This record gives sequence, structure tokens and C-alpha cells, in this order.
Amino acid sequence: MAPLLSVQGQVTDLFAAALQNAFPSIRQEALLVKGNPKYGDYQCNNAMKVFKEHGTGLGFDSPLRVAEAIRDALPANSLIGEISVAPQGFVAVRLSQAWLSNEVGKILQGDVEYKDLPRKRVVVDYSSPNIAKEMHVGHLRSTIIGESIRRVLEFCGHEVHGLNHVGDWGTQFGMLIEYMKETYPNFQDQLPEVHDLQEFYKASKKRFDEDADFKVRAQRAVVDLQAGGEFARTAWEKICEVSRLAFNRIYARLNISIEERGESFYNGMIPPLVEELKARTICQESEGAMCIFTPNVSTIPLMAVKSDGGFGYDSTDLAAIYHRLFVMRADWIVYVTDLGQEQHFHMIFDAAKQAGWHTPPFTRCDHMGFGVVQGEDKKKFKTRSGETVKLSDLLNEAVQRAKQEISSRVEQQQKDGGEAFLVDPQEQQDAAEKIGIAAVRYFDMKQNRTTNYVFNWDRMLDPKGNSAVFLFYAYARIRSIQRKSGIDIASIPPSCLEVKHPTERDLVLKLLQFPDVMQAILADLHLHHLTDYLWELCNTLTAFYMKCKVIGDEEQSSRLLLCEATRKVLLKSFQLLGFTPLDKI
Ligand code: ARG
Repeated sequence: MAPLLSVQGQVTDLFAAALQNAFPSIRQEALLVKGNPKYGDYQCNNAMKVFKEHGTGLGFDSPLRVAEAIRDALPANSLIGEISVAPQGFVAVRLSQAWLSNEVGKILQGDVEYKDLPRKRVVVDYSSPNIAKEMHVGHLRSTIIGESIRRVLEFCGHEVHGLNHVGDWGTQFGMLIEYMKETYPNFQDQLPEVHDLQEFYKASKKRFDEDADFKVRAQRAVVDLQAGGEFARTAWEKICEVSRLAFNRIYARLNISIEERGESFYNGMIPPLVEELKARTICQESEGAMCIFTPNVSTIPLMAVKSDGGFGYDSTDLAAIYHRLFVMRADWIVYVTDLGQEQHFHMIFDAAKQAGWHTPPFTRCDHMGFGVVQGEDKKKFKTRSGETVKLSDLLNEAVQRAKQEISSRVEQQQKDGGEAFLVDPQEQQDAAEKIGIAAVRYFDMKQNRTTNYVFNWDRMLDPKGNSAVFLFYAYARIRSIQRKSGIDIASIPPSCLEVKHPTERDLVLKLLQFPDVMQAILADLHLHHLTDYLWELCNTLTAFYMKCKVIGDEEQSSRLLLCEATRKVLLKSFQLLGFTPLDKI
């Protein structure tokens, strides 16, 4: 099946052609907006502008006449059903019912597809926690947002590499290695059971600060690690392994598929790169450090080499962007971190431009920054006792609360004498895992990415509000209607679909907006376009149910098809956001 195209884009193209046909000497972009439903689905606003700027020259005496000329110049097409011209000069079009049914038929017959051309090679740098340190709420945001943007880009046809830029290198490893030597002398055979990696890190830091002898040994261990000494290397690998186990538990729960390519991967690339940048005078010495000055940030330069001669976070990101743009030949890189790092990434992009690796518009680099998660007190999100929130605890609580929501629903269903599905405790638990985690993700992604947001369990799990719970119910309701109909939906020919009632039409138009949502996300990397869309889609679906009976109505076949098309768009959107829906709730 052919991928879906933007409806608004297609109508815009028709008007662009009409303008060109009607007024070959004028260049004007087609101005198309969603119309007042009384007159049509879309409205072209060019006539007024053409009249104002060129009316007399072209021999028109009113915007109305210009509008009529535009209408008459529209190329033959199957999209537009009715056209009307208003005295002020608006040209309103209503899409043809046959065309709408045919478009929905594409959704019914194939997969929901959308293509963004030309195909690009994209690197999405996300999650990226630090070894032996706690993976905090900021990393959770990066993981959730990054995974969804990776999925969206892949769905749109791009070749996407999701990279986990794990903080697995740096001077802190000296103290960790030394600590490991002391505390787990036989770590080679037995991996330490480090349940709380933060404690491990803290303990080694304490030793470092308190014991001068330990400090010297730790510094020696760093040198040893850099030089590839066997002991240091093995200890480092073990430390990474322990951390990785903890990260992977979170990734498995969230269904994250990312490739680990940590800071250490780039370490060997830094010295020759710095030499080259020095030779090309892109790097300059300043107060003992090797710096790159970038035009937009005058206060601090990027440090290719720190004043102590070591390589830091900046050095690694320089090597990483070089590797991604120059070696991997990526066309587009997206970095997903908190907004606190915005300046850092803009300096990296500037430096890459100076070096000639980043050449917009042929290459695109985005910092997909996000705000801070806050508690009700508007301060950084903490537990009641003031500690940082452990991610596993957070997910567990979401699941626990989702379970309560499910069991009270089941109780209600039983009280009402209706059919209850999730009666078995294990089934309830599985469903709660899916809903609870989806609720956390949805609540995060529906926010404007760049603003801070207040974490709120009640809103996150509100079955009637804009939450994943509401969406899950909407999906299950379609499934329930399909089951109750007793009909195999696949056996209904797509040609049975007819768009008659206004709420059916609203639903179809909403479904066909899906490509516009993808386009919007590709343009500004705001995932809330998709969550807003889902909320609107489910509300439009509810309005349709209120007015249109499905089962037993003479339009049953057509309406079952419409429900199925909606289900497919919902399912695709759920997959992009990382949710697995439930058929029965
Ligand atoms: N590890 C870093 C942190 O926790 C995030 C890394 C983001 N990616 C990058 N290429 N610098 O803040």
C-alpha cells in the first residue's frame, strides 16, 4: 500500500497549481487554513492578497473575482468534492466523500505508513547515564523521549542509530578501580552484588577524599587504565558490567532498544583530532588549555584539552560528533538531554561547523532539550524524605497505582452486572505493568518538552483525563465492539465504508491528519504533537459513538470499518510512544 500523504499538503499543492495557472506572472505561496466546517474542510486565503497587491494590474475589480479565477484554475482532481467562494474572497473546499473513503481504505488494507523523503541517516544520542552513578529522572526523560523520537524517525523511513553515550570514562574510574581492588579482591570470579551503585560510588569518593594514600593509588589507576593496563582494564570492565545490569533492567521494562557506545569508545580518537584542529588553528591555547572559541558563546570556550592536559566531556563530544558526521556519515544528529546542556551542544555544533564536518543544510544537528521534573512544591522531584527518586521505585509505584485503578474498575463492572475481564490477579498485574508504565511515559511526552513540569500521579492515571489510561480504554472499547459484533472485520470489503454522518466525517478527517502530525514532529521534534493528536482522536471517537450506533445499525459494516481504521492509527501511535495496548480491560 502507498504511504499516506498529508491531506493539507495535497490541497495546498492544488491551490499552488491554481495560482500558477491563473496568474503565471505572480509568485505567491498558497495560503491554506482549516476552514469553518459550515463552508468546508479547508479554505484558501490567497484572493485577498492577490487582489491587494496586483488586483488592478490584472484587471480584477474585487477579491471575489480573483477567488473565482483561482477556483476555475484548479487542476482536475479527485480530492475536492465541493467548492464555494465567499464574497470576501475565501475559497472553501469540502473533500469528496469518495476520496475520503478511499484514503481510509488505504489504512484498512495496508499498514499505517508515512515516508519522509529523502531518506536520511540519523543518530539519536539518548538515555546516556553515567557508570556507577545513579540513573536519575533526567535520564528517564531522555530515555523515554529519545526512544520515541528514534521510533518516529525510523517509522518515517530513516536509517536510525540510537546511541547510548554512557559516561564510562574519566578520572572517577581511578578511585572506583582502587576501591574495587580493596573491597572485592576476587571480583574476577565473582561479580559484586552492587544493588545500589550510588553507594559504591559514594564510598570510593569518601576514601579518595579522606585517605591520601588511597588518592595517590587512585590517580595511578587512572594512568594505568588509560595505558590499557590489564588489571585496571578488567576492573573497569567489571564496574561497567555491574552498572549495565541496572540500566538494562530499566531498559527491559521500558522496551528500549539502544546501542551502547560510551565515552570510552572515542578516547583514542581525541589526540590525533586535537593535533589536526591545532594545525588548522581551530584550536587555540588559552590559560594552559586547548580551546575552541565559538561565535555565539563568548564567555566560555570549548575545551578540547583541559589545562591539566586531560580530556574531558567537551573533548569526548568533539570526537563523537566528528565520528558521527565524518566516519558514520550521518546526515542528522539529535542529542536528547536536559536543557542545562544546551549551551554545551551549541558550542559543539559550532565547533563542528568550523571544522567543516557540519555543513548545514546538508547536515542537521539538533539539541532536543527538555525541562526539569518537579515535585508538587515546584522543586526538583524528590521522595518524601528528600532523597532522589529511584527509577525502579517510580515505575513500581506507577504500576501499583495502575493496579488499583484496574481493580476498582473490575469491582465496578461486577457490581453493574457487566462483563469483567481482568479478574485474575496475574492478568491484573500484567495489565497494570503496561498501563502504569505507559502512563508515566505519556505524561512526560504530552508536556511541552522545553518547560519544567510537575509530577502528579492523579493526573497521570486519570481514566477520564488526558492520560494513557484514557487512551487504553478507548482502544479496548473498539476491541470490545469488534468482539460483540461477532464479525470478522477483515471479511468486510473496504468499499463498504461510507462517510455520511458529520461525526463520521470528523473522525475520518482526524484519522487523515496523522501524516501532518509526523511532519510536525520532524520539523520541531516536539512529541506532544502526537499526544495531543491522540487525545483529540479519542475524543472525536467518543463523539462518534454518542451519535452513531455501530452494532445493529444499518451502517454497521461501514462503522465497523471506521472503528478498525481508528484502531490501526491508535495502535501505530501507541507503538511510536512505546505502549503495548490491551484488548480487554
Ligand atoms: N552522560 C551525560 C549526563 O549524564 C549525558 C550524555 C549526553 N550525550 C552526549 N553526547 N554528551 O549528563
